[in-house]
Amino acid sequence: MLQEASRMCGLSSAIFSEVDDMRKAEVAKGHDVITLSIGSPDMAPAPHIVKALMDACALSTSYGYTLSKGISPFLQAIADWYKMKFNVDLDPETEIHTLMGSQDGLAHIGLCLLNPGDVVLVPDPGYPIFSAGPLIAGAQMHYMPLREENGYLPDLDEIEESVLKKTKMMILNYPNNPVAAIAPREFFVKVVALAQKYNFLVCQDFAYSELVYDGYRPDSFLSIPGAKDVGVEFHSLSKTFNMAGCRVGFLVGNSQAISLLGRLKSNFDYGIFYPIQMAGIAALTGPQDCIVQTTATYQRRRDVLVDGFNALGWAVPKPQGSMFVWAPVPTQQTSMEFTKDLLYNTAVSVVPGRAFGQFGDHHVRIALVQPENRLEEVVSRVAKWLGSK
Ligand SMILES: Cc1ncc(COP(=O)(O)O)c(C=O)c1O
Repeated sequence: MLQEASRMCGLSSAIFSEVDDMRKAEVAKGHDVITLSIGSPDMAPAPHIVKALMDACALSTSYGYTLSKGISPFLQAIADWYKMKFNVDLDPETEIHTLMGSQDGLAHIGLCLLNPGDVVLVPDPGYPIFSAGPLIAGAQMHYMPLREENGYLPDLDEIEESVLKKTKMMILNYPNNPVAAIAPREFFVKVVALAQKYNFLVCQDFAYSELVYDGYRPDSFLSIPGAKDVGVEFHSLSKTFNMAGCRVGFLVGNSQAISLLGRLKSNFDYGIFYPIQMAGIAALTGPQDCIVQTTATYQRRRDVLVDGFNALGWAVPKPQGSMFVWAPVPTQQTSMEFTKDLLYNTAVSVVPGRAFGQFGDHHVRIALVQPENRLEEVVSRVAKWLGSK
């Protein structure tokens, strides 16, 4: 009988697995389940990205190890894209490292910087790897509640000085998964000052930088004066370019953090498959109208779902960013009870907010990963169900 390592104790995917098992059981019974529980894009990458991938796959020279930092043209493409999108200057040599998806970096950055007992400030609700990575490193979590009345920003004044003195890292994520909130520039300015005062690294997960609506453009954390001294930003091509399965992303910012992660990763992996880096170059340097189309599609889906629910009397706010809708549970139930009821009565599958932390328990997360006609169907099923209650 194997005995699991103690570092496995805090790692759990229990709620996500339970929800997915329930969903699969309904599918197995032959029900037409509409799956809005999985945050994986249903759209395809633009043709020029797929072509770059296929062209590189056809070359016999594409199959060697690439080394973990990233090939130079990809690093340069990242620097140019960052300048174009966020007006942030990055040195491709020292301030950029490629990742096998941003998850790779989020999972491993803690191992470079945290010792047992160090504190990490983590949002609650939050994307699970934010605490799983530091837990593997033996760190202690200090959860920062994200409350609707604060625009889902952590209340920095609420964090006690005794905690801040032990803090080595703070995790932020705007536009946010699961609460779909955005962060104003003034908030980032305050974070930079706090990180400078207490000497911790800010890890801003910017995976949804491009999935923003109604003309809104988010600021890069690194565009705040002094931010590069205290912070890094995690990026992903998964959602921006519909390349989730390619596993490609990057880390930018503080050169010391980048160099530490590079040293760690050079022990773990041998870099991203060359054709995927070529596809990444095509994505970042090619026409950007594919992002506009993707965003417009999510925005239309958001409007169908949110306007539809609001017309039924289910008051759901319209997110300005991310690919999710964070909907308050419209009954007196917990988020899990409501998720089950919704699945069994309407065959619509969502994720209970509790899966993202205790402060998520009054909401469910709905991913906009189905076409508009399916979301119209969701609204009409929910209308019938609520009408019959
Ligand atoms: C907030 C957030 N960060 C990071 C990731 C990981 O993305 P990837 O590893 O595909 O870049 C996800 C995926 O859903 C996410 O929602």
